Amino acid sequence: MQKKSIQTVDERLKHIAFIMDGNGRWANKRGMPREFGHKKGVQVFQEITEYCHKIGVKCVTVYAFSTENWKRPQKEVEAIMKLLDEYLDKTSKEDVRVCFIGDKNRLAPELVEKINSVEERTKKGKSTLNVALNYGSRAEIVNACNKLIATGKDNVTEEDINAALYTGGCPDPDLIIRTGGDLRISNFLLWQAAYSELYFTDTLWPDMTSDDVDAAIENFYSRKRRFGGLDK
Ligand code: FPP
Repeated sequence: MQKKSIQTVDERLKHIAFIMDGNGRWANKRGMPREFGHKKGVQVFQEITEYCHKIGVKCVTVYAFSTENWKRPQKEVEAIMKLLDEYLDKTSKEDVRVCFIGDKNRLAPELVEKINSVEERTKKGKSTLNVALNYGSRAEIVNACNKLIATGKDNVTEEDINAALYTGGCPDPDLIIRTGGDLRISNFLLWQAAYSELYFTDTLWPDMTSDDVDAAIENFYSRKRRFGGLDK
């Protein structure tokens, strides 16, 4: 029997975040350099994020490059930055608001210029794609605190911190999906993930398909979210 795919999601699933792991291993398995895995990873990133928006997920966040990823060999870092640059040149649609979350200061000025222009051009999009780039969640929280200190606030609320984070304005992720088999969060959306449902799969990111997303969503809907309360 053919598998019935998810048609649309409802208001319980407004935000999905992805830790896209496994590009390097996917390439190694094929006797290819890690960069080959990242190239396929970008293609899959586009397919999967488009699919999520198509089924009605309002906000999608992907972990593209962490503050720790600079420690990788220069050749690999350059290849990822080049892929990003090409992606920025290619994004032409305006129905999705693309936001780059992370510290832009360490990025090449030409890349930042392209990022700013894509953000500006897509800002009226009805759904959101957050691309975490040079992103670290602890640094994000420190940055939010410093922003709030600069406003002179002496009584900071959770809402103030929510608004001061890079993701300000987005609902917290309902579901965080990590590919590649590791069972950790890796400094991703630590504040925002307080009540997120976590889903881990051994599938390597370049092998991820819309069927795998459907499986994660079905699993999400089978869970009871209590947000610290009791079952009704
Ligand atoms: C993790 O796989 C992947 C990364 C650190 C980079 C992810 C980047 C992309 C998919 C490109 C995103 C680009 C755009 C345009 C958004 P890994 O290299 O850690 O894999 P491994 O665990 O198998 O070594």
